Amino acid sequence: MNVTSLLNELSDIGTNPSGGYNRLAWTHADASCREWFVSHARARGLDVETDRNGNLWAWLNPSAPGDALVIGSHLDSVPRGGAFDGPLGIASAFAALDALQDFVPSRPVAIAVFADEEGARFGLACAGSRLLTGAIEPDVFRALTDSDGVTTAEAMRRAGLAPEHLGRDDELLKRIGHFIELHVEQGHLPTSAGVDGLTTGSPLGLATEIWPHGRWRVDLVGQQNHAGTTRLGDRHDPMLDLGRLIVDVRDVAEEVGILATVGKVRVTPGAVNAIPSAATAWIDARGSDESRVRAAIARMGRDSTLESWTPSTPFDDRFASELASAVGGELPLLPSGAGHDAGILALAGIPTAMIIVRNPSGISHAPEEFAEDADCELGVAALATAIRHLTA
Ligand code: GLV
Ligand code: MN
Ligand code: MN
Repeated sequence: MNVTSLLNELSDIGTNPSGGYNRLAWTHADASCREWFVSHARARGLDVETDRNGNLWAWLNPSAPGDALVIGSHLDSVPRGGAFDGPLGIASAFAALDALQDFVPSRPVAIAVFADEEGARFGLACAGSRLLTGAIEPDVFRALTDSDGVTTAEAMRRAGLAPEHLGRDDELLKRIGHFIELHVEQGHLPTSAGVDGLTTGSPLGLATEIWPHGRWRVDLVGQQNHAGTTRLGDRHDPMLDLGRLIVDVRDVAEEVGILATVGKVRVTPGAVNAIPSAATAWIDARGSDESRVRAAIARMGRDSTLESWTPSTPFDDRFASELASAVGGELPLLPSGAGHDAGILALAGIPTAMIIVRNPSGISHAPEEFAEDADCELGVAALATAIRHLTA
């Protein structure tokens, strides 16, 4: 099947009434996407497994000697997310196997769907790959909650998994020789060709690194009181601190030269006619330089709690050049400001590469995220060539 038809099969799952998709981890929509994966894997005669961290694996030739070439990405989304972030990598992997027809690899090949990549529900990005590699303690993970107070453990149990078995999986890690994630471009960061994004150049690129990325929580406390009776001078209103914090985040990001965002806030109790008792803001900060990201948070001068940190992650140069020559030579190189499971596997020492498919809209984590069919086909062809070359 071609990649566009595969993606179209997902187009009714988790649709948001105002556009895009809500496919948060361990929800009904996520389960439907995972069922779609399992049925396509079985239809191709692949051996399907769910690992103890909820990641899905579909193995081709699993008993061949040697470690595996794994192609993977994710199927969950941010709220009102786009159609390509994640699913493009999975659909392209199936399409690449279809393009290879009866080719028998000399080593195992697997397609992996990493669970809860976006962290949109419980706050921790790349949860499935972090658990697999031991980058997060299972006890810490099991205690995370969503906005309704449901723990990850409970959400996974409801999805039929056994959260008591979460944790680093050395046996599975040993089977992974190389990892490739194909992903839609998510902005227009400058490439090695000296232009902004892939728009004016090649439809495909290779990622060189993932920028360091932290998520911090700031809790602001006030005194809940009546909006109609409390004199302005008598108020302890955390909403004012929240407003100042949001502007400071932007100002400091500009001064220090990083990207920083307040994309989620919670106001308690959230009544029109009450001064809030508390406000919480989440800061997402990233940039090319680790020390500047940390310096920016320090400069904001607020008490904050670090909820997750992913260091700067360079991809393996040797594997990237092998992949580039397999798929026909020079591809523009670009950094990724977005986090990926590929980064978590690279940090665990697995030779990893990312093929990026151009996105003319330059928009991601939003319904406008886009890639042309023809560019997606080129991505599939690159993956198929890579699989043939690396497993011949
Ligand atoms: C995930 O896509 C992230 O970069 O936040
Ligand atoms: Mn993604
Ligand atoms: Mn994403």
